[in-house]
Amino acid sequence: MQTVADEKVRHVIYISKPMHFDHLVLENILTKSRAKNPVVGITGSLIYHADLFLQMLEGPHSAVHELYETILADNRHAEIVKLRDGTFNRRLFSSWAMKNDGHQSWMLSRGEIASMSSDEALQLFDRLARENDQFLN
Ligand SMILES: Cc1cc2nc3c(=O)[nH]c(=O)nc-3n(C[C@H](O)[C@H](O)[C@H](O)COP(=O)(O)O)c2cc1C
Repeated sequence: MQTVADEKVRHVIYISKPMHFDHLVLENILTKSRAKNPVVGITGSLIYHADLFLQMLEGPHSAVHELYETILADNRHAEIVKLRDGTFNRRLFSSWAMKNDGHQSWMLSRGEIASMSSDEALQLFDRLARENDQFLN
């Protein structure tokens, strides 16, 4: 998934609140993400808890825009707050169509995440990506 075009990778990070959280909802989202994201060059990570989704989308500028618009209209969650919208010279989750993380011992509360600065939100995913690299190596 890594190409020259990735020199300018757009990323969006947002937090939202699941309407009815259960594992079927999550499985459905992940199955859909893993089928569709590679087609449009999106990678990323989705953290879920009973009371939050926290997602990073990364990829080509317009693909990230379109997917974020689709996700905004999804009635399986509400109270969507964009924490960061920026560009970077590489992907954090280049080998993941959508990585899922459900059990983060370091996980902060919904309120703490919602009040993060955009740099803090990026650092959170950067840390997650590096832990993941260690796991893979
Ligand atoms: C928290 C959350 C994260 C999602 N992430 C993705 C994603 O990364 N990729 C994706 O294609 N759909 C994602 N979706 C689903 C989309 O909102 C939408 O339902 C789906 O793309 C529609 O696909 P379809 O038109 O093929 O049915 C997500 C939904 C939620 C609630």
